[in-house]
Amino acid sequence: MSSTKGGSPKARNIQRAYFTVTAIVVLAVLSAAIAVTWSRLQGRSSLPSSSGVGGAFSLIDQRGNRVTDRDLLGKPALVFFGFTNCPDVCPTTLTEMTGLLKELGKEASELNVLFITVDPQRDTPQQLALYLSSFDPHITGLSGTESDVAAVMAKYHVYARKIPLKDGDYTMDHTAAIYMMNRKGQFVGLMSYQEPEELSRAKLRKLLSDPVKG
Ligand code: NI
Repeated sequence: MSSTKGGSPKARNIQRAYFTVTAIVVLAVLSAAIAVTWSRLQGRSSLPSSSGVGGAFSLIDQRGNRVTDRDLLGKPALVFFGFTNCPDVCPTTLTEMTGLLKELGKEASELNVLFITVDPQRDTPQQLALYLSSFDPHITGLSGTESDVAAVMAKYHVYARKIPLKDGDYTMDHTAAIYMMNRKGQFVGLMSYQEPEELSRAKLRKLLSDPVKG
C-alpha cells in the first residue's frame, strides 16, 4: 500500500497531530483570554470583597476637631452611619450602643465609636454635639463637606437616600449596620440592626480582645 498524494500515512498522521495540537493551543489561549476579560468585567460590576470596606477619610467631630482614619489606629472601632433627625434606627442604635459602653466602664476608652452623618447639610458639628449629648460621651460624631461625607460613605459601601416629606422637609433611608474595624483599621464584621444584645456584646468582647498579629 502506497500513497501518491499528501505523503505517507505516517506524514499525514504527523500533520494531523500538529493541527490538533495547534487547535488545542489556540482554544486554550482564547478561553484564557475570555476568562480574564470575564473576571475583570465581573470584578467591576460585583460587590467588593469585605476587605475593601473602610479606608482613608477626613472629617470634623462634634468639638470641631479634624479626625482622620489615622487617628483611629491602635484601637478597634465601631462605625455607624446615620443622621440626627432620624426617627427610629439611629436613636435605637445609639441607645443600645450607650448601654454596651456603660457596661464596659473604663474599657470603653479602649474603643473608638463613630457616628458619621449621612446628612451633612443639616448635621453640622454643633448639631451633632447637641444630639450626642443624650448618649454615651465616648461616641464621636463626625460631619464634613458633602464630598468628604460622600467619600467616606463610598469607602464603607453605605447606602443613603433622601426621602422628601409633605412639609417640604426630608428624612433619610440609610444603611443601619454597625461596622467593626480592628486596631489596624481593617473591616472584621458587622453588628446588625437590632440583633440580640448578647450577640453584640460577644462581638464587642471579641473585637476588644483581638490583638491583631502581623
Ligand atoms: Ni437613622
